[in-house]
Amino acid sequence: MQTHHTPLLQSVVGSCIRAVRGRMAHPVDLNDSQDWQYLEDGLLIADVKGNIIHLGAFEAADTQYKSLNCFQLGPEMTLLPGLIDLHTHLPQYSVTGAQEASLLEWLEKHIFPVEASFENASVVGAQTAQFLKALLAAGTTTAAVFLTVHPPLVDAVFQAASAVGPRLITGLNLMDCNGPKTLLRSPKSLLADTEALCTQWHGQNRGKLFYAWMPRFALSCSPELLAGVGALREKYPDVYLHTHLSEQLSEIRAVSQTFPDCPHYAGVYEQFGLLGPKSLFAHSIHLSQAEWETIQESDSSVIHCPSANFFLKSGRFPWEKLNTDFKNIPMGLGSDVGAGPSLCMFDVMRDAQYMQPDSLISVRQLFHAATLRAAHALQLESEIGNFKPGKAFDAIVVQTSPSKTQLDEILAELIYTGDDRNVLMNVVQGEVAYCRASLSNSIK
Ligand code: GUN
Ligand code: ZN
Repeated sequence: MQTHHTPLLQSVVGSCIRAVRGRMAHPVDLNDSQDWQYLEDGLLIADVKGNIIHLGAFEAADTQYKSLNCFQLGPEMTLLPGLIDLHTHLPQYSVTGAQEASLLEWLEKHIFPVEASFENASVVGAQTAQFLKALLAAGTTTAAVFLTVHPPLVDAVFQAASAVGPRLITGLNLMDCNGPKTLLRSPKSLLADTEALCTQWHGQNRGKLFYAWMPRFALSCSPELLAGVGALREKYPDVYLHTHLSEQLSEIRAVSQTFPDCPHYAGVYEQFGLLGPKSLFAHSIHLSQAEWETIQESDSSVIHCPSANFFLKSGRFPWEKLNTDFKNIPMGLGSDVGAGPSLCMFDVMRDAQYMQPDSLISVRQLFHAATLRAAHALQLESEIGNFKPGKAFDAIVVQTSPSKTQLDEILAELIYTGDDRNVLMNVVQGEVAYCRASLSNSIK
C-alpha cells in the first residue's frame, strides 16, 4: 500500500504526528548500550495521547497501520529518541564562555551577577523564551534545569514549557550563604516558596513538568537550609533533588572546612537526608571510594558534564567506574551551560569521548547515556528514553550525509561533526515542538 507524504497542516509546530515511516534507530537495553534496533524502513505509530503503540519494519506491519497517513522521512533523515540533558542552567545561557581560573572565582565574577539580573521581569521573559527555543532546536526533549532564587522565574519557565513542549525538571535555586546579598534569602522564605512552587507545578502539563529541590551546592547553603530541604524530601518522596557535588578540588577543600564533622562532600548531603533515588548529583568528579559506595548504596544518580569540566579545568569524571565497580549507579550527561559552551548534546557526547584518555567509548554508548540511561537516572525509563511501545513518543529527526547509511556512521557523524543544524525536528509526546525551516517548508 502506498503511503502519503504528509501535508503536516498549516503550522508544523504544535501539530501532532501519529505515524512516521523511514530510517529509525533506538537503544533497546538499559544494561547493554550496544544493543540497538535499527530499521532502514521502519514504521512508528503513536496514539492520540502521543504514546507509541507500534514500532517495526514497514513491510511487516498490518495493513491498517500501513494505510495510515505517514510522515515520510527523506533518505538523509533518521528518527532517534529525544535527547536528555540532565544538568544545565537557564540563567547562564547568555554568559557562556566567560573564562576564569577556578569555579569559585567564575561563580563570583560572572555567574552570580547574571543570576541577580533575573530580579528583572523583562530579563526573565526574554531569557526564558530564548533558552527553551535553543534547547528544543538542539534536540533536547527532557532537561533538568537550574534557575535562580527568584520565584517569578520558576513560574515563567514552567508556564513557557507548558506552551512549547519540553519535559522539564526544575525548581527554585536555594542559596542563603556565600554569595552576593542580592541572591541570598532567608532559609525560611526559600523553603516556603519552594514548597509552594512544588505544590503548584509538580506533575503539571500532563505529567511533563517535574519539580526538584535545588540547593545550589553545599557551600551556598546553611545547615538550617539543608535540613529544611531534607524535611521536604521526606515529605514529598516523589520530587527530585538536584545539586552539584565534588566538581573542583578548591571547592572540596572549602566544603570540608565548612562542614568539618562530615567525613566527605557526599557525607554533607547524606547527613541532611538528601541522597536517594531521584537525587541527581552533577559532576561527581573527585569522589573517594567511600563516597562512590555511599552514592551507590543510596541509589542516587550522577551526571557527567564533560564540556563544563574541560572549560573550568575541573578534572576528569571516571566514567570507567560506572561500567565496572559502580555499574549500578544511574548516570547520564549534562551540558552544564554556561560552564559548558553548548546546549547541544552531540557536543557533550563528543567531549565525553575526548575526556577519556585511554579507553574508547562507543558512539552507541554515548547516545545510550543521553537517552535510555539518562531516563533511568530520572527513574523515567518506563516513560521515555527509547521507542518501546507504551512509552511517550519523544523523538528527533536528524539529517546526515547521504553516504552514511550504517547506524554507527550516522551516530558518529552527529557526535564528531554535528551540531543543532543536524536537528530537523523535535517531537515531545507526539507533538512537534520544533521544526527547522528547511524541513517545515518541504512538508507544508
Ligand atoms: N557549583 C555551584 N554552582 C555552580 C554553577 O552554577 N555551575 C557549575 N558548573 N558549578 C557550580
Ligand atoms: Zn551546574
